[in-house]
Amino acid sequence: MFKHLSNWFDTRTGYKALIHEALEEPIPGGAKWRYVFGSALSATFMIQLVTGLFLMATYSPSATTAWGSVYYINYEVAGGWFLRGIHHFGSQAMVVLLAMHLVQVLIAGAYRAPREVNWWFGMALLFITLGFSLTGYLLPWDQKGYWATKVATNISSGAPVIGPYLQKIVVGGPDYGNQTLTRFYGLHVGVLPALLVMCLAAHIALFRKHGVTAPKKAVGVEMFWPKQVAFDMLAGLAVFGILVLLVVSEGGANLDAPADASSDDYPARPEWYFLSLFQMLKLFDGDREIIGTMIIPAVIMIGLLLLPLLDKVLPRGFAHFLACTFVIALLGGAGYLTVKAWQADASDQVYIKGRMKADQARDRALLLAKEGIPPEGAAYLLGRDPLYHGGKIFENKCLGCHALGGKVTGEQLAPDLKDYASRIWVRGLLEKPDSPEYFGNVPGCDGMTTWKESSKLTPKQLDDVADYVGTFATIDAETSPSDWADDPKTKAHPGRASFQKECVECHTMGDLSERSKKMQPAPDLFGWGSTRWMTRMIKNPNAPACYGFLEAEQKMPAFGEQLTDNDVTTLVRYLKGDYLPAGSGSMTGKAAAKP
Ligand code: HEC
Ligand code: HEC
Repeated sequence: MFKHLSNWFDTRTGYKALIHEALEEPIPGGAKWRYVFGSALSATFMIQLVTGLFLMATYSPSATTAWGSVYYINYEVAGGWFLRGIHHFGSQAMVVLLAMHLVQVLIAGAYRAPREVNWWFGMALLFITLGFSLTGYLLPWDQKGYWATKVATNISSGAPVIGPYLQKIVVGGPDYGNQTLTRFYGLHVGVLPALLVMCLAAHIALFRKHGVTAPKKAVGVEMFWPKQVAFDMLAGLAVFGILVLLVVSEGGANLDAPADASSDDYPARPEWYFLSLFQMLKLFDGDREIIGTMIIPAVIMIGLLLLPLLDKVLPRGFAHFLACTFVIALLGGAGYLTVKAWQADASDQVYIKGRMKADQARDRALLLAKEGIPPEGAAYLLGRDPLYHGGKIFENKCLGCHALGGKVTGEQLAPDLKDYASRIWVRGLLEKPDSPEYFGNVPGCDGMTTWKESSKLTPKQLDDVADYVGTFATIDAETSPSDWADDPKTKAHPGRASFQKECVECHTMGDLSERSKKMQPAPDLFGWGSTRWMTRMIKNPNAPACYGFLEAEQKMPAFGEQLTDNDVTTLVRYLKGDYLPAGSGSMTGKAAAKP
């Protein structure tokens, strides 16, 4: 029955002859393990193709959505971390296998006549594979890929003559950004696969035409089937097994913080197999840069392309010796430079600090992403995060004068803002207004010290006043001063009496016109420490309700012009501790990727 069916199918398709053609290939000298690299590469490419197609089903290529979709694959889709991990390590396996294949071909002399053309197809495949790596690295649109690829595109657009065209085609315009991502995606899933399949088909067809390059003293002939087929399949399985091990032990592929064009101190590094190039570039700076970026790569490329022609001009054995020396020196040099690059990074404090900050940003972004990613794009995860963004602004703009729970030094000009506007902060102020933690170092700010000198409040009364003032921050923007004053809760507060007695002498509560009668002008305390109050204070400390009365030189500068609304909002929330706590869940890229 089966025979009948297969005969029927064979007369319609001729598949038996095809299989015969494919499997009954003679191998002079017999099957060998060292012939497996080509098939292992093809197998790995198939793995990349299949995992790539699955990834395409979820990945979304745009600057706003890419990171989020990769996050989704890594952390939400069942098995997504594994799929992406295989694709990630598979791409590295291809580079490693390529190098092994290259060395094997070279030692066997398989680049020589009549196989020159196939050598060139092999070279084309090499560059296509590197093209896959380069384009793929950008697709998650995370910091790592963004900055590494920016270096690469800057180099390519600086190429003489073709640079501007490359810039147009690859970068997609004068600016590196969303267009670059979509271009790279098109290259990665459309152009490069098509090119690779075409070159691979030609490569295999030519290989079949000329057969393996058997050793000179080869004796006997074996058929491709079954032994070589078994070797090849085992090699493919071994590669897959190693990939699975890598993915499981690493917990999938890393996802860095979302790309942020403003963080230009990011410690950019390319994938490890491009590190040697990166290290080499360090040797050439300024005008000589072109030697590293263009001339050396061009010489290597031309050298590789011309290798097969060496036999024509040099004695055969010598040409082979030269060819092997060249490629092995090349790989050795690349290995040496890679180790150098690692060593340089391991002792580079700027790099280590930068990487640490980058890892913190990544962990924070992953934690925030759990709560949902803003539709405007993943960049806003950190951009709107009080802890990350507000904290950064505070560090850059405020820490020069203010402290934040730090050891207060004599040089500190302005109050410590830890727990600002809380009951604890006020209690401290009422205890020791002239300490450097408060107004001790602010020239001209002696109002509270004046009050302290004549104050008759007992510690218990001070506690109550502090408690009362600590509630001002909860007064929202809709409440008017009179509504608030008439609120029974306000009236019943135990601190109110002392406040009315000692504080309103100087401080107004929402009505500045009362100030003229006061003995010394002071900040208006209505809604003190609320978002509205703090926003006004940061944007314009010279407002009459803030420190407009102060005549000292060293006043707080107005930040209204320097900071965006988002900066101020995140800053205020940062100071108020209004954000997702850092510890919650504490998810790192690795641990979290594991199921
Ligand atoms: C040049 C030094 C300086 C810088 C920079 C500075 N401040 Fe101030 N800040 C002061 C001084 C001095 C005061 C006391 C009032 C005054 O002089 O205006 C003050 C007062 C404040 C107050 C009122 C509470 C208090 O303790 O008096 C807040 C809130 C505040 N600053 C927040 C900030 C924030 C947020 C930043 C960063 C955007 C910042 N400041 C940057 C010097 C500075
Ligand atoms: C002699 C006038 C005077 C009296 C009385 C006074 N203050 Fe002040 N207060 C000031 C001045 C002036 C400042 C600005 C900082 C400075 O000069 O010490 C200030 C600052 C403050 C601040 C910090 C505002 C900011 O920038 O964040 C608070 C809170 C405060 N006072 C609360 C009180 C309380 C509560 C009382 C009553 C127990 C009180 N003050 C009594 C004059 C006074």
